[in-house]
Amino acid sequence: MAENIHPIFDSILKTEQKEALLEQQSQVIWMVGLSGSGKSTLARALENSLHEKGILTALLDGDNLRTGINNNLGFSEEERTENIRRAAETAKLLAANGVVTICSLISPLESIRSMAKSIIGDKYYEVFIDCPLDICESRDVKGLYAKARKGLIKNFTGIDSPFEPPKQADLIVKTGEQGLEESLNEMLEKILPIVKLN
Ligand code: ADX
Repeated sequence: MAENIHPIFDSILKTEQKEALLEQQSQVIWMVGLSGSGKSTLARALENSLHEKGILTALLDGDNLRTGINNNLGFSEEERTENIRRAAETAKLLAANGVVTICSLISPLESIRSMAKSIIGDKYYEVFIDCPLDICESRDVKGLYAKARKGLIKNFTGIDSPFEPPKQADLIVKTGEQGLEESLNEMLEKILPIVKLN
């Protein structure tokens, strides 16, 4: 703990009070996967569905965060670690205020994900958006794989920067094998019971 800092955590409103007001239980849904695996699409669909069901949500997407709070970070291992640290701390704050927080970031390494989990604690719920690299690359929605193959982008995840598939995800969604609807339903089936009060 930094010197001369006197946090007031114990005397501010509790998460349970916020959750009771919102009639929901907060969670951090941490979506992990390669670029082009469908994280952002599914995160958006999940947020829309939860919103329609009266649940207050926030969506923290890697690309979005990199236009603001993380706009001074690149893609070295150190910078990705800092990127995830800030995202996890932000998600923790939102969840502490009762908000169901959906995070979609590549989060490529086991060490990076265990850091996120240790920051967030019990509310961390990891979803592996599992799509094989060849399918992500053949879809290449943003044209980034083609650029990476030409050497125009360095340290691209899956090409010249590692991706370690999660071993202990709470849920695995196979977006290479099934459509959006099926993937979304799988997520809702698991997530609705843990965010709905009663
Ligand atoms: S993470 O590795 O630090 O978790 P994050 O999810 O924030 O990554 O950002 C990934 C997004 O940045 C990709 O979806 C892609 O649009 C863009 N991007 C740009 N350069 C790279 C790169 N070298 N590796 C991966 N993604 C990149």
